[in-house]
Amino acid sequence: MPTSHKIPQWESEGFNHIWLPYTQMQTAPLPLPVISANGVRLTLADGRELIDGIASWWCVCHGYQHPYLIKQISNQLDALSHVMFAGLAHEPAYTLARRLVSITPKGLNRVFFSDSGSTAVEVALKMAVQFWSNQKELDKRKFICFRNGYHGDTMGGMSLADPETGMHQMLNHYTPEQYVFDIPHNSRDLAALAESLKKIRKTVAGLVIEPLVQAAGGMKFHSPEILAEIHRLCKQYDILFIADEIATGFGRTGSMFACDEAGITPDIICLGKALTGGMMGLAATLSTEEVFEGFLSDRLETALMHGPTFMANPIGCAAANASLDLFEGEPRIAQVQGIETQLREELKPCHKLENVADVRVKGAIGVVQLSNTDGEYILALRQQFVEEGVWLRPFSDVVYIMPAFTISTAELTQLTDAVFKILAAR
Ligand SMILES: Cc1ncc(COP(=O)(O)O)c(C=O)c1O
Repeated sequence: MPTSHKIPQWESEGFNHIWLPYTQMQTAPLPLPVISANGVRLTLADGRELIDGIASWWCVCHGYQHPYLIKQISNQLDALSHVMFAGLAHEPAYTLARRLVSITPKGLNRVFFSDSGSTAVEVALKMAVQFWSNQKELDKRKFICFRNGYHGDTMGGMSLADPETGMHQMLNHYTPEQYVFDIPHNSRDLAALAESLKKIRKTVAGLVIEPLVQAAGGMKFHSPEILAEIHRLCKQYDILFIADEIATGFGRTGSMFACDEAGITPDIICLGKALTGGMMGLAATLSTEEVFEGFLSDRLETALMHGPTFMANPIGCAAANASLDLFEGEPRIAQVQGIETQLREELKPCHKLENVADVRVKGAIGVVQLSNTDGEYILALRQQFVEEGVWLRPFSDVVYIMPAFTISTAELTQLTDAVFKILAAR
């Protein structure tokens, strides 16, 4: 396997037993061994430091090893590291539920905890289908989703991904078939979508969308106005509106939640990633009281039959509560706005590069879309960024920056300089 670093013993001994994500194991280069991290810096086993420009898949929003998060987590570890969430209750989860309800769009009132973003999406799908079947609407069980969408790697989530460009094409025959549309961009597109919804509404349980930013499917943006219109159509045609804010939630787009920018309350929202400040896996699916009430009766059959072993893990909930403390006590949203301004300014020169098709910025997300989509070129870029001392992970046709919100202006400039330098060198 090709490598560009000194291999520590644990890596050489363990590599033959590891199966890596999204990786062709026959040809993949060895992953870089990280021994510690602080702020936005990763330290490798050979002593090199990399500035992380993607916050470990966008979740480490306060930077690595934030002392307050570490303190709150270790306090929780001392008291109660885990307890099952059925028949037993604990303070961190109940407090977190109350706090999530108070910061998410008004009307979301019930919190179902799980352990990963993908599971939060599965829970949302299950909620939507059963919400209708509890009302004897048995035909309403398909979902509307969008091209360039991504909603996780479990079966339900995969079924919502773009069937042509998404990474799960190999399993298209296996996952449930959904209705896939282009995200509308103008009133004509919206009218066409409305026409389709009118026709299929009786078979549709819900519409699932990554609000404002379709992330892993290509870092594509749409406007709050369009989002609000899609939401309005769902209301009009009795389709549950499910906002997957796993990537966009907790400040990433410049407001606490992307739905806030459109002034909408989804019927169901999925949260994960930055929920714990990126300290550990925890996710939540929130619903309105109306959806929740759809499950109430004197029979168990109408209840939501879901319960991951580690749901509402107390350490995860303590991390999430601590993360919310930081959002309240530190100027995170202002920092995102600062990052947005800086990204706009510093990525501007990329516009004139020959192989750049588009440059766009939204909140703490900076995207340079390439006209060259050659897979080997994209992989080579990853290596070149490492040589520049930055950790960026271009995919498909995009090079993007989604750093921790605590990144300094100098560190962010190192990232944007590296992007320009490497793309210009081609
Ligand atoms: C919008 C969206 N939904 C769902 C997921 C899946 O989350 P997880 O990787 O925690 O399962 C992701 C992950 O990138 C995501 O971006």
